[in-house]
Amino acid sequence: MKKIAHISDLHFGRVNYKAAEGLLVDLKHHEPDLVIVSGDLTQRARNSQFREVRDYLKKIGFPIFVIPGNHDIPFFDFIRRFFAPLDRYKEYITEDLRPFYMDNEIAVYGINTARSNTWSEGRISIEQMAAMKEQLCGLPENLLKIVVTHHPFIVPPGRVGIRIVGRAVRALDIIDECQIDLLLAGHLHDAFHTDIRTYHTKRERSVIVAQAGTSISKRTRYMKPNSYNFIHAASNYLRIEERRWNDEIFDSSLITTLTKEENEWRKVQEVEVPGHSHP
Ligand SMILES: [Fe+2]
Repeated sequence: MKKIAHISDLHFGRVNYKAAEGLLVDLKHHEPDLVIVSGDLTQRARNSQFREVRDYLKKIGFPIFVIPGNHDIPFFDFIRRFFAPLDRYKEYITEDLRPFYMDNEIAVYGINTARSNTWSEGRISIEQMAAMKEQLCGLPENLLKIVVTHHPFIVPPGRVGIRIVGRAVRALDIIDECQIDLLLAGHLHDAFHTDIRTYHTKRERSVIVAQAGTSISKRTRYMKPNSYNFIHAASNYLRIEERRWNDEIFDSSLITTLTKEENEWRKVQEVEVPGHSHP
């Protein structure tokens, strides 16, 4: 069993520093095998913001797996936005825009969905789909395969006017072909996890989707607090825990346990920890 902390949308430049310190404490306590950061490390892709997030990620002290989000591409600086969109990300964070992690239980693949032209909306290119297929399709069946994007494959119920990542349906065909079980994303600042078929109702295969809220920024939405997902993962088992900031600590709220039987993820238990409300 592996322990994954899925944090997202840090937005250095608009950070709640008390929550940022609280997250470091909570991560230290839970000792994840891997910390996945699903994009929007900065608010405006400035040098000072990248320096700050680089130093923050170093303080985490566990292996980090990171992809960029749209906010990691400059918005107002048009020269940089169109001709060197991720240069600062590459300079301060990593050159690797297709991160891959594998151990004896999980394989994790990251796709950069941020784009200069549409800026806030993301997309997966045909070439990125081919690269994902090449990396993931031939892996042993006993690994739990995870794909990380900034932009989401689904929208939580009741949210209108929000678009999913471009070419999601074509990418989902490859996700099925390669037997990928878990999709992690951010962007919406709206923590949520479910089966892909609750949104893509015509799809046949069970895939679990976990979207993280904004973990430490002041840009919370929908009256939801800062949060991150703490995930226990094995080939046929997932426990997804949303840990919410209560202005003092990150604390347990919604915990969903799932097992996979005959290629179908089934919810074994869903627990709301008392003292928290889930919309
Ligand atoms: Fe964001």
